Amino acid sequence: MSQVVKMERHGEVAIVTVDSPPVNALSAAVRKGIFDGVKSAAADPDVKAIVVTCAGRTFIAGADITEFGKPPQQPGLHEVIDEIEKCPKPVIAAIHGTALGGGFELALGCHYRVATKEAKVGLPEVKLGLLPGAGGTQRLPRAVGPEMAVKMIVTGDFIGAPEAAKAGAIDEIVDNLASGAEAFAKKIVAEKKPLRKLRDDDSKLAAAKADRSIFTNAAAAANKKGRGLEAPVTAAEAVSHSLDQPFEQALKTERELFTKLMNGEQSKAQRYAFFAEREAAKVAGVPEGTKGRDVKSVAIIGAGTMGGGIAMSFANAGIPVTLIETGDEQLKRGLGIMQKNYDATAARGGIPADAPAKRMGLIKGVVGIENVKDADLIIEAVFETMAIKKEVFGKLDQYAKKGAVLATNTSYLNINEIAKMTQRPQDVLGMHFFSPANVMKLCEIVRGEKTAPDALVTAVNVAKKIAKVPVVVGVCDGFVGNRMLAARGKQAEKFLFEGALPQQVDAVLTKFGMPMGPFAMGDLAGLDIGWRSRKDRGIKSEIADAICEAGRFGQKTGKGYYKYEQGSRAPLPDPEIEKLIEETTTKMGLKRRQMSDDEIFERLMYPMINEGARILEEKIAQRPSDIDVVWLYGYGWPIYRGGPMFYADSVGLKKIAERLSFYAKQTNDPSLEPTPLLKKLADEGKTFASLAKG
Ligand code: 3HC
Ligand code: NAI
Repeated sequence: MSQVVKMERHGEVAIVTVDSPPVNALSAAVRKGIFDGVKSAAADPDVKAIVVTCAGRTFIAGADITEFGKPPQQPGLHEVIDEIEKCPKPVIAAIHGTALGGGFELALGCHYRVATKEAKVGLPEVKLGLLPGAGGTQRLPRAVGPEMAVKMIVTGDFIGAPEAAKAGAIDEIVDNLASGAEAFAKKIVAEKKPLRKLRDDDSKLAAAKADRSIFTNAAAAANKKGRGLEAPVTAAEAVSHSLDQPFEQALKTERELFTKLMNGEQSKAQRYAFFAEREAAKVAGVPEGTKGRDVKSVAIIGAGTMGGGIAMSFANAGIPVTLIETGDEQLKRGLGIMQKNYDATAARGGIPADAPAKRMGLIKGVVGIENVKDADLIIEAVFETMAIKKEVFGKLDQYAKKGAVLATNTSYLNINEIAKMTQRPQDVLGMHFFSPANVMKLCEIVRGEKTAPDALVTAVNVAKKIAKVPVVVGVCDGFVGNRMLAARGKQAEKFLFEGALPQQVDAVLTKFGMPMGPFAMGDLAGLDIGWRSRKDRGIKSEIADAICEAGRFGQKTGKGYYKYEQGSRAPLPDPEIEKLIEETTTKMGLKRRQMSDDEIFERLMYPMINEGARILEEKIAQRPSDIDVVWLYGYGWPIYRGGPMFYADSVGLKKIAERLSFYAKQTNDPSLEPTPLLKKLADEGKTFASLAKG
């Protein structure tokens, strides 16, 4: 038999076991192994039933994504599922871990399914810009009804085996998978149960025939959330054909729609993002086998915007935290905001009704930094002032236990300098969360010059545990994300002097797929922060200053670059701003001009990409894909565009380098000239991706 699929006989039951770590993905070898295994068991007169199961941590987690885009190898997944479905003996899928994508589709092609209580099933193909392409859009609606099926397929979310069993996708929950599946198979044989083929069972479709709004609603919900994603809408369409096309024809349509998505730019970018995210957690320069330190107890210092959000992230993952403030009042305010936040989510149905109390119960608010003494990990989120950070780290050195990891959430400050305040710089690093910290998935793990490898691994592990996406970066002003954002912000600000309005600039980015542009983002964060910082540093920015002098601090004052209606976060263009910009520039003797959207776009994006190249040159980021992950998970970069460096490769570095040179001259700003790395790659006709390949 094959290397990756084994077969054994337990009396009259043949057990076909896939053993292809890490996740038993359906590579060509696995497909062939299952195909041959089922075929030979079908031909063996002593075999009465067949169990398909997996070794290792999980049932088949889907098609092998690394094979996508390569020439197809036989047998295809369709043929494997066909072979199973038409087998004259009952075939039972025995599921543990996660049966996902093609793995779940294969299970749905079996005559019966058993699973452990902890198992999960789902069709997450949309997350890769695809739709289930091996019968999932047709068999799942027949198993659980079209309404639930379209919801699962359009969101890509998994469900637990008990829920799947209730809905009809799992026949039995078993305690012990091996013995339970075997016993189930014997029972099917003994009771002469029929070979159940979902393809022939239209009973659950009948009720839905009248109401097609389930598909349009699912597609509309996906559209609203996904901003420009093709896959969820196409997937809803594919599922809808379960009602208006015969099974075989609907399978053919599914295949066509799958192929269209697979060959499209969006899925290519989303598949890239899948691997980029996993790559980012791998840290160069850490000795093989380095283990993270044990983290049993966590303390967070500062219950403000970020400290509160970080504490909620831990509580959401079921991990208790101690939240430390300077006084009762600050603590009360912070805890109150968290409670309100949870209550609002529960009221919307985002979390169960009892979750707010449970989660708040995990957050223990206390006053006084000496309370860090039991913590294995301490995350500091106090004001962004070096003097205060230094004072806090001096105290941490005094109170924290030996071996505790000391993390700062600073946005810009030099972590090496902060680490010097302690006798243990090897334990100090950055854990830079993004606002709102309970929502945004990115965590830049900042490696100081003295950070110990095991401290770094600890931070990466903890970030993953609280469902964040960790990306290891080096120390510099603003690290990866904010540093690139600053390059973009500098241009955006200039446009107001040159001729554009906030709404024109922002619209260019939202049209591209970003959730918001720089001015709406400024209004959200609060314009007074930058204003204060400019004053501290003696820097002027005439338009931004005038806006703040007018008391317009953004959303919190109902006015900023935009105006806001009471209770609304929707930015509305404001003629007062137009007037303010015109008056300010006239006073400065500037002549404004019409700017094209193309110019705005290139001058926002390309300097950012250039800064990304500089970040690579300086080895602040390990690889171009890490920069993309930062933008995907920290700033809402549209996943179907892969990230700024991936996008740059798709535009072509030659064009980007040329346009940067052009704008450097046009705006008399030499800092826009392409960096040596960008220039070199452009001259050699290479991509950023070529760097990763070495
Ligand atoms: N193909 C190839 N490699 C895969 C893979 C897949 N489907 N799924 C996971 N891997 C790899 C990862 O790249 C990673 O490799 P690495 O160790 O070299 O970085 C390794 O398996 C482990 O993955 P994770 O780090 O993600 O492990 P977790 O335990 O955190 O998660 C998982 C496991 C939930 C299975 C998660 O990996 C996952 O969601 N995988 C993708 C599932 C999926 O999207 N399936 C659908 C595929 S498309 C399809 O089936 C088309 C069909 O309809 C025709
Ligand atoms: P904030 O002003 O909302 O909260 C800071 C909190 O720290 C206050 O509640 C304050 O009482 C408390 N504090 C101050 N000194 C303290 C001390 N010695 N001990 C205990 N608590 C103390 O500030 P915010 O926005 O939460 O920022 C915190 C840190 O996070 C800063 O370093 C900031 O740069 C960083 N950050 C902020 C982001 C944002 O969007 N707000 C995003 C990412 C990082």
